[in-house]
Parts: sequence; structure tokens; C-alpha cells
Amino acid sequence: MEMGLLSRIATNDGHGENSSYFDGWKAYDSDPYHPVDNPNGVIQMGLAENQLCHDLMVEWIKEHPTASICTKEGASQFKDVAIFQDYHGLPSFTKAVAQYMEKVRGGRVKVKPERIVMSGGATGAQEIIAFCLADPGDAFLIPTPFYPAFARDFCWRTGVKLIPVHCKSSNNFRITREALEAEYKKAEKSNTRVKGLLITNPSNPLGTMMDKNTLEELLQWTNEKKIHLVCDEIFAGTVFGQGAEFTSVAQVLEEDTSKTKYDPNLLHIACSLSKDLGMPGFRVGIVYSYNDNVVKCGRRMSSFGLVSTQTQHLLAPMLADNNFTSKLMIENSKRLHDRHEKFTSGLADVGIKCLSSNAGLFCWMDLRRLLESISVEGENKLWRIIIDEVKLNVSPGSSFHCTEPGWFRVCFANMDSETMEEALGRIRRFVFRLGEEEEKKKKEKEKEKKKKKFERMLSLPKRFDEMVFTPRGILSPRSPLVKAT
Ligand SMILES: Cc1ncc(COP(=O)(O)O)c(C=O)c1O
Repeated sequence: MEMGLLSRIATNDGHGENSSYFDGWKAYDSDPYHPVDNPNGVIQMGLAENQLCHDLMVEWIKEHPTASICTKEGASQFKDVAIFQDYHGLPSFTKAVAQYMEKVRGGRVKVKPERIVMSGGATGAQEIIAFCLADPGDAFLIPTPFYPAFARDFCWRTGVKLIPVHCKSSNNFRITREALEAEYKKAEKSNTRVKGLLITNPSNPLGTMMDKNTLEELLQWTNEKKIHLVCDEIFAGTVFGQGAEFTSVAQVLEEDTSKTKYDPNLLHIACSLSKDLGMPGFRVGIVYSYNDNVVKCGRRMSSFGLVSTQTQHLLAPMLADNNFTSKLMIENSKRLHDRHEKFTSGLADVGIKCLSSNAGLFCWMDLRRLLESISVEGENKLWRIIIDEVKLNVSPGSSFHCTEPGWFRVCFANMDSETMEEALGRIRRFVFRLGEEEEKKKKEKEKEKKKKKFERMLSLPKRFDEMVFTPRGILSPRSPLVKAT
């Protein structure tokens, strides 16, 4: 592109689309799997989308035809919905969203509708937060591995930087105070202003949840440093398995009833309905900040990415329907758990382990033992084979800034169970193929070893012959045979 024709931001790399995370999507787009039309196509396992409960929502919509303006029963509302546009949102919508957010947080948090700022998905929410909290060049610490598109959402247009805080598999990728402190000091030394810490709970890509102690510690640490804590809780309602309970950082703040431990002005939450309800297409994002000025500025900014009134009109009665949301949450959790169990046990059958998890729409698969070399190159090589030969789009750990090669994120909820079985079948055949190749290599090596041994044996008498019968052998004065005579 001709330099200077467009802005520096428009032409820089901040969109992050050159990452292998998006390359995999391109591979899928050019050859998408279809059970009948393209059975050998690429299966999309790089998309954290929840397609397991749409039937329940369709059922609800059929039972509530007035919620939609596209039905005989609801069309009379068309004019009101078409002309209303206000960045505060429909009061019925913000109230229903607050009610739903409280429910997902186990009723242990009070969510105030007047603090809800709408945005175009969590993508927009992250940008609003970064814009309000930091200036271009300022930085946020972020534990690895992390969602690759944060580079776009949080940084591209705001000019804010992310400083990775590397977490390791040896403690299941948990963040430690020491690692945070070390990166904070490094940034200070290089005169980078650290404005906050950005965490994702439950984690994408790990599928793990932070416990209350960790959240307390992070809130304490950021308060000590007088920096912000931003928590992406987009997977708050995507939690499954026995005893799995999500704890919001908001709960930790609100339990400090004396209001002396933590400064609420430093806490901000981003979330959306994209994952829990499986509706990323609706672009319902939320900034929930405890800082009044962030709420004020965020609301002004939200004009750039409001949720359409038609969407608000449909979702307000759905989210306000307590019986429905209870049923949906229970069923969603159950279906996710079933899917996760089937998928991870299918992997375990062929010896593939995943990090133990109970949230999210993916698992963090450990393929370290399949790497040809323990390096990013080794990981990329294996990833290319998985895309080109196994025909699965999974995402390599390096695209999540993981420093240990060999981890891959695999999504399991964006497909029907037949497609998941097909994916498992491909993985099984791939692992067997690798096993056979390994076995063949081993046998060849043994054969080679035996051959060499045999050759050595054959060469022994030859040397003896040479020693005895060549003129040099017979005549050599140093020959033991000569000496013997
Ligand atoms: C951690 C995280 N934050 C934000 C987003 C963006 O979500 P949305 O579709 O609501 O913009 C995603 C999407 O995958 C995500 O995983």
C-alpha cells in the first residue's frame, strides 16, 4: 500500500490478523468441512463458539412472539423500536442484563443497571476500557497464555501496549505475585507507565477459573501499585462439572463491606452474551465499571458500537424470564460438561492429555510429546500437519503467547456431536499413523543396528585372514605369530 495514503494506525499490524490464530481460520474458510458436500474439508476447532443451546432459545422465541418485531404479534412495536436510540439503552434491557449478570455470579454480586455500558461485544468493551484508562504508549500487564485478539481489541486504536507475564505449565499456568512484580519492575526501568493488569476469568485458552484467594491477591496487588484491574468475564456463565462455581472479582470487591481494603475506582469488568448464550452475532457487550468517570466516558464512547434496539427489545424479556434463564444455565452447563467429557476422554484414549479444566468452550491440549523439536518451529510444523493433513483447525499455543511449545487450544462446542466424532476419528487415525511411523523408524533402526553388528562380525575373520596370510601379516616382525615361532 502506498505510504501516507492512509493513517499509520490503519496501515500498521495492530489488527493482529497476521497471527497463526487467524491463518487457521483462513485454512478453514477456503476448505470448510461439510458432512455431505465436503467430507474431507477442514473442521473448524479454532472458534470459541457455543452452539449447544440454541434450540432452547428458539423454543422461547416461539413461545414469546411479541418479543420480536418480525412476527404478526410483535410487528405493532416496529415504530418504537425503529426510532429509539439512546446510549443508555432500553431501561428494560439494562435491568434484565443486570439481573442475568447477578445470576451468573451466583447472586453474590449486586449489579446496578445504571453502571452498565453497552458495547459492540466484549471486543468493543475492551476498547472502551483501554481508551478510558490509558494513553498511547501506556501498558497493561497480562498473564500468558491469553486471547490473541486482545492485541486488536485493547491496543490497536488506543495505542496501549500489553506486557506479557509468563505463566508456566509446572503450576498449571497460575499467575504469581513474583512474576507480576518482575515484569512491573522491568517496565518501570524502561520508563513504560504500567496502568493496569488485564486478566481473563475463566481463562481463554486454559478453560480454568481463578479462585477467590487469587482474585483477592490480584486486587490487593493492583491496589498497592495504584493501577487498574480489568477482568474479562466473558466466560462467566460457561462453567461446568461437579462443584464448579464461578467467582467474580466483583464479589471480592463487594465483600469488603468496610470499603477500606480496595479502591473501587480501580476495578472494571468486560463481558458479553457471545459465549454464555452463544450469540456473538448479536454483538451484546458490556462494560461494568465501579468508577463513575469510566461509566460516564464509556457511555459517550458507546455511541460507536451500540447494541441495536431490535436486539435489546428481543433480549430484554428473555433475560428477565427467571424460569427460562435458570433452565438455560442448568442445561448449558450440563451439555457443555457432556461434550467436554466426551471430547477429552476421546483424546485420553489415544494418550493425549489436556489441562484439567471446568470452564470455557475449549481445552488446552498437550501435544508436547509429538513435537519433532521443542521449539516454536517444532510447534508450527506440527500445527501445519494438523491443518493440512489431519484437516483440523486448532490454534497453536504460540498464538496465545504461550512460551512452552506444544500446547494447542481446541474448541469443542461450535459443532454438532457427529462433527466432533469425525474430529476425534481424525485425531485417532493421526496418532495411530504417528505411532506406526515411529514403530517403523524403530524397526529400521534396529535392522540397521543388526546389519552393522553382522558386518562387524564378518569383517573380523577377514582381518584375521589379512593378518595371517598377507605378506605383511606373515612377515611382520611385530606379528604375534612371528614371535611365536
Ligand atoms: C476472552 C475474550 N474476550 C473477548 C472476546 C470477544 O468477544 P465478543 O464476540 O463479545 O466481541 C472473546 C472472543 O472469543 C474472548 O475469548
